[in-house]
Order: sequence, then C-alpha cells, then structure tokens
Amino acid sequence: MTVMVTGGAGYIGSHVVRLLERCGDDVVILDDLSNGFSSRAGRLPLVDIDLCSAEAQNQIADVIQRYGVDSVIHFAAKKQVGESVERPLWYYRQNVTGLGNLLQAVGQCGVAKVVFSSSAAAYGMPDIPVVGEDVPCRPINPYGETKLIGEWMLRNAARATGLRTVSLRYFNVAGAGWPDLADKAALNLIPIVINRLTEGKNPVVFGDTYDTPDGTCVRDYVHVVDLAEAHIKALDFLDSDACAPSVFNVGTGTGASVLEVIDSIGQVSGLNVIPDISAARPGDPAQLVADVSRIEAELGWKAQYGLPEIVESAWAAQAL
Ligand code: UFG
Repeated sequence: MTVMVTGGAGYIGSHVVRLLERCGDDVVILDDLSNGFSSRAGRLPLVDIDLCSAEAQNQIADVIQRYGVDSVIHFAAKKQVGESVERPLWYYRQNVTGLGNLLQAVGQCGVAKVVFSSSAAAYGMPDIPVVGEDVPCRPINPYGETKLIGEWMLRNAARATGLRTVSLRYFNVAGAGWPDLADKAALNLIPIVINRLTEGKNPVVFGDTYDTPDGTCVRDYVHVVDLAEAHIKALDFLDSDACAPSVFNVGTGTGASVLEVIDSIGQVSGLNVIPDISAARPGDPAQLVADVSRIEAELGWKAQYGLPEIVESAWAAQAL
C-alpha cells in the first residue's frame, strides 16, 4: 500500500507516518511546512504543495501518479479556534478549498480511500456531557464549521463516486510517541501548562464555576499514539466490504478536569504547582467527552493510554 499523508510533517500527521512506516507501508508526505518540520519526515519523500492554490489539483494528481498512491490521510489544515474567528474566510479557504482540491485530484486519479481529520469542534456546545456521533452537530466557530463541511464533502463524494471514506472526530489530543515528534506549538492545555512551568510561571485555569465536579472544564484527553493507531484501523476498515461513509469519535470515553490535568502534571514533574484562576474563556463547553462505543465496535479500536501516560510522554519530550 502507498499512503499519501497531507500534513505528514505536523504533530499528529508525523505520528501516523511513523506507524505506517513500522507497518511496512510506503508513504509520501505532502506538506507546505507552514506548521510542520521537514526533520519529522526523515528520509521519506516530502512534497511541498499549497493545497489551496489554483495549480494544486494538478500538482496533487502528479504526486498520486508518480508514487502510485492508493490511500490518502488528510491532516493538512488550520486548527486554531480563535484564529478562525478572526480570519473566517481564510479558514474556509485553507480547510475547505484545500480539501476540495485534494478530492478533485483523488477523483481524477481513482484513489479509493480517504481518511479525514475531523474534530469534536464539529459538535459545538452539546447539552449532554458524553457525545455520540449522532448528536446534532452545531459548531460554534468557523474552525468547527470547516471540519463539518469537510465531513459533508467526503460523504457526498463517496455517494457520487464510490470513494471509501472515514472521518475521525478527534477529542483533546496530547502527548508524544517519540520526542522528535512532540507538539511544539503549545496551543493546548497540556503543552501550555508545561511551557509555563518550565518558565517558572503558574498555570492559568480558565474558569472554576462550571457545572462540573470541581468547577473546571472536563475534556477527553487522548494520547497521540492511540489516535495514530485509529488511523491505521480506519485504513483497514476501508479495505473491508462493510464500510459505508463513516464518522467516528476518537477519545477515551473518560473525562479529566483542568485541575486534574494540572495536578497530574505536578505529579509527573515533581513540581509544586499552584494554578491561578482566571475568567472563563468564551465558547468553552463545561464538559465534552466522547462516546467511543461506535469506534470500538466497528474499527476494533480502543485507547490504550490514559492521562498519566499522556502527561508523562509530553513532559519527557519537553525535558529533552
Ligand atoms: N485551558 C485552561 N488554561 C489554559 C489553556 C486551556 O484552563 O491555559 C482550558 C480550556 O478553557 C479548556 C481546556 O483547558 O477548558 C482544554 O482547552 P484546549 O484549548 O486545550 O482545548 P479545547 O477543548 O478548547 O479544544 C481542543 C482543540 C480543538 C478541538 C477540541 C475538540 O484545541 O481544536 O479540542 O474537543 F476542536
């Protein structure tokens, strides 16, 4: 099998690439290196293409033909909620136009299988704490909207052409499988807290009066290696005859509060961590935890790691 991984030099994409290599699959990476690092590609072919450009469809088709690509995993996208509110049209261009060009090239070349990085941001602020895939999606920011539109594009392309597709809705991804692949962007709770601690600053908790056991927001933290494994299972699923266009949550099914995460980082680091409490951040749901029964039943995937392993791996990668 030859897999084309867009965004394969990024944090999550590079973990999937490494697992594919271990499985003995051939891999070609497409990445414009806007957030990725070429060092993560190792000796694998890396092609720098702007997926949104007018030439993108032909350029992608050239790569598919040159490398004999039969499957695509699509990560290349922008993922900052706040930035998407400030630059909505740019987000639509990056995430929707980019996917459109990719799917045109996929159709042109007859590639059979596509796995798409979606997000729990597609749900918005559901009023139930544990969210199954059939809960209505009402995203509350342009980023979440672009992910939901991406799912629709895949579903409709599948209906029209017989393309086999899976969309994976990631919950809160963290940790590192290999230190050189660790998340360097520090845009999410765990890397932010680790960065602040290493700078001698207290972590900041955005609100402690939510309707949750300790008043801070609860999320479902999933280890990036577990998440990467889910992509391998998704490709296997697409080889089976049973696959209709499908959407799966990828989480652990267990929630952790902001204070629990900070406490875990304190334990792993051995530091005496004193969080500062600040105002709630607009748009944060009190609790967002995945119902993982569908992915367990249909893909045979289940998270192997919990919060301690996530935090240990993130801390170890930072310390190197
Ligand atoms: N938080 C703090 N302090 C910080 C940073 C975050 O208290 O310094 C809190 C947030 O308010 C939130 C929780 O920690 O309650 C997690 O925040 P993140 O920003 O790490 O993650 P989000 O849950 O907001 O969003 C993440 C991804 C999105 C994705 C979503 C899906 O960033 O892209 O998970 O669940 F859509």
